[in-house]
Parts: sequence; structure tokens; C-alpha cells
Amino acid sequence: MTNIYTINSLTFSYPKSETIFENVNISIEKNQHIGLIGPNGCGKTTLVKLMMGVLKPCTGQIHLKGHNISDMSLSEIGKNVGFVFQNPEKQLFAPSVLEQMLFNYRFDKNINETETNNKIDYYLDLFGLIDYKDSFPFNLSLGQKQRLALASILSRDADFLIMDEPNTGLDIFHLKNLSTSLLSLKNENKGYLIISHDKSFLSKNVDKLLRIRDKGVEFV
Ligand SMILES: Nc1ncnc2c1ncn2[C@@H]1O[C@H](COP(=O)(O)OP(=O)(O)OP(=O)(O)O)[C@@H](O)[C@H]1O
Ligand SMILES: [Mg+2]
Repeated sequence: MTNIYTINSLTFSYPKSETIFENVNISIEKNQHIGLIGPNGCGKTTLVKLMMGVLKPCTGQIHLKGHNISDMSLSEIGKNVGFVFQNPEKQLFAPSVLEQMLFNYRFDKNINETETNNKIDYYLDLFGLIDYKDSFPFNLSLGQKQRLALASILSRDADFLIMDEPNTGLDIFHLKNLSTSLLSLKNENKGYLIISHDKSFLSKNVDKLLRIRDKGVEFV
């Protein structure tokens, strides 16, 4: 089994704050489906930001497919891993919903236009946004923004997805559609890591739990 992520001796603290991670060592395989859990403020978002290269370790290394992410640009990391932020407003910037969806294809080589358009329509429909193609993402409701962030990341062809609390703000209907999308990722042999406080959502969608406790990270 190939590792997508290998984290070695990771230590991290924000400037002038106490240590959040101390000597963390974990490996994540390419097609694992993982739930990242831990109480509010324990460092879940911090850990995934480190994995996306948005934050840098104080000591230790994070390897993505064998490459130290400190040596990779954010866009190189983004080619391999899709990321849904805890706050969707942070990742929506395009002038329309459709352009936001298309933006994510900038990483994908050999794209077939018809296939891409069909995939975009499929995900926009699944998340109730098909009638909003021309809307300005900023004017959408918070739930719609959350769903757009999800639709745009799910429709892309990344090997691994990291989602920071994707289920908050979704009603039962869209939650079910998210689970359906996660199942198709599994069937395509793609892996993901989901941060969530919702035990029943996690039990349906992940095979393993990773827990943050006492400045460490461990599989439970
Ligand atoms: N930019 C920052 N500067 C300083 N401290 C920060 C910063 N961002 C987060 N923190 C602190 O780091 C700790 C971990 O925060 P983080 O957001 O990673 O937690 P979390 O597990 O994702 O919490 P939640 O479940 O509420 O989303 C918290 O104590 C938080 O206040
Ligand atoms: Mg968080």
C-alpha cells in the first residue's frame, strides 16, 4: 500500500502560543477513509493546514507522495490533494458559481470539455446549485457556499481529499448526497480525511478514526 502522507517528528505551535503538536508521527495510505476527531481547539484545522502546506512545521517533515511539502508550491500540493476549508468563504473567489467550478480544473491535464461540463452539472445538481450557475458566490447563503465548496472539490480529479467539517450546515437531503459522493470516491479508489464532530456521519463514511490528544495524533 502506498502512503499519500508521511508525517515525521512534527512539532508545531503558533507564534507566542503553547505547543499544539509535539513529535507527531503518522502515515496515511492513499486509499484510506479517515475521520479526524478531537475536541474544539485541539488542533484539527491546524493539522490539515499543515498537511496542505498553508502552515509550516516548526520541526519535523510532512511528505506528500514521498516529497517534502516544504519543497512544494501550494499549487503543486493542490494538484494532488483537494481541500475544503472549515469556512467556505475563504475559498470562493470566482465571479460566478460556474467559474468557481471551472477554476478547480486548472490542475487537471487532458480534460475533455463535454465530460467536464457533465461532471460540473452533476455536482451542481446534487448540491442544489444548478440554477445558480451565473450567481456571484459571495451572494449565496452560507449553506449554499458550503455546498459550492464541496461540489467544486468533489468534481475534481484529485487523489485525496481533505474536508474540514463538511457536514456542518448541510440539511438531511444534502448530507445524504454528500455520503453518496463519498461512496463514489471510495469506488474510484480515492482516499479522504474528514474532520467532523458528527459520530453517525463518520461511522457511515470512514473506516478509521485519527484522534488528536495530548499534543499527539493517533489512530484509534
Ligand atoms: N492563527 C492562529 N494564531 C494563534 N493561535 C491559533 C491560530 N489559529 C488557531 N489557533 C489556536 O490553535 C488551537 C487549535 O486551533 P484549531 O483551529 O486547529 O482547532 P480545531 O480542533 O480545528 O477546533 P474546532 O473543532 O473548533 O474547529 C486553538 O487553541 C486555537 O485558538
Ligand atoms: Mg477546526
